[in-house]
Amino acid sequence: MTLIFSIETSCDETSVAILHKSKRILGEITHSQSEHIKYGGVVPEIASRAHLEILQKIIPKCFKKAGVKIKDIDIFCATGGPGLIGGLLIGTTIAKSMAISMKKPFYGINHLEGHIISPTFNNEIKFPYLSILLTGGHTQIYLVNKFNDYKILGESVDDALGECFDKVAKLLGLKYPGGPEIEKLASLGNQKKYQLPHPLIKNKKDLNFSFSGIKTAISLIVKSQKKINKNFKKDLAASFQNKVIEILIEKIHRSLNFLKKNDIEVKDITIVGGVAANKAIRKALNNTFASKKYNLAYPLKKMCGDNAMMIGLACIEKYKKKEKPNYFFKANPRLEVNENIK
Ligand code: KG4
Ligand code: ZN
Repeated sequence: MTLIFSIETSCDETSVAILHKSKRILGEITHSQSEHIKYGGVVPEIASRAHLEILQKIIPKCFKKAGVKIKDIDIFCATGGPGLIGGLLIGTTIAKSMAISMKKPFYGINHLEGHIISPTFNNEIKFPYLSILLTGGHTQIYLVNKFNDYKILGESVDDALGECFDKVAKLLGLKYPGGPEIEKLASLGNQKKYQLPHPLIKNKKDLNFSFSGIKTAISLIVKSQKKINKNFKKDLAASFQNKVIEILIEKIHRSLNFLKKNDIEVKDITIVGGVAANKAIRKALNNTFASKKYNLAYPLKKMCGDNAMMIGLACIEKYKKKEKPNYFFKANPRLEVNENIK
């Protein structure tokens, strides 16, 4: 029996998990830090202190839930980047210390790779496939050739999509994180009420995203509005979310065309990261691409946002590939998707 213990602390979720190498989850606890709500965004120093405090409570709880002891764990791992350096140092130092004290291997895991791998838990996905990563820090389109072999086809040149949801929510006076708040309001509003810009539309080959112009347009609409009532917020949230859906559909179409032109055939499209929890986005993408015979795959809802399960899943792949464990790697806040942790 090979068991993996994983920690995720790259942003404001403190999460631990224990998985069997068959991917079965024995125990898992994810704590979303509420300390940041009053600041309208994540405060790194507060996040680090909270990670330390919360890990001390949830690690023993997770072992209890899983019904195993530290001596039963064969491999320890933690997110090594990208993310906020304070959180990365805390998660990796704790997991490494556990590994060293038990004389077991330790792996640093790339957070982006964790997100990319997350839908393989509940879906059959065939290589090569298209993966759209939509988080608070990244918006990227990948061609996934195999585990640890990703080609970036396009990415945001400014704000990440999750960040844009959060900023628009803040402009509308909604609480952090903004994505779920916008989704709730948008379901009640008129998506045609406000015309918003559609960035990077002219060049049909452009696979990049830009969201800062939409955010500025929304800020101007909010400033010019005399009465900011619930109806105004519903309609603006709906118009924003609808524009996001239009952009995603268009960029996925363009990516599929690009692959076709290069004789690369993909059947599966995965949508991952916190924004992939959005039901309106899922429905629109399913309606558009499932009819064209593509198979759309999403992570379980609990694996869309940051969580230690996806970190454990990526670790299982590294272990299967016989990658070398490493106690001496450096946590890297700016780690890229294809950069291995050294
Ligand atoms: O993947 P994630 O938990 O963290 C990062 O790696 O950044 O993504 C967090 C982002 C936040 O910006 C949050 O507002 C967004 O995901 N998000 C959503 C929804 N749930 C979370 N965005 C749109 N709709 C949602 N339902
Ligand atoms: Zn993430």
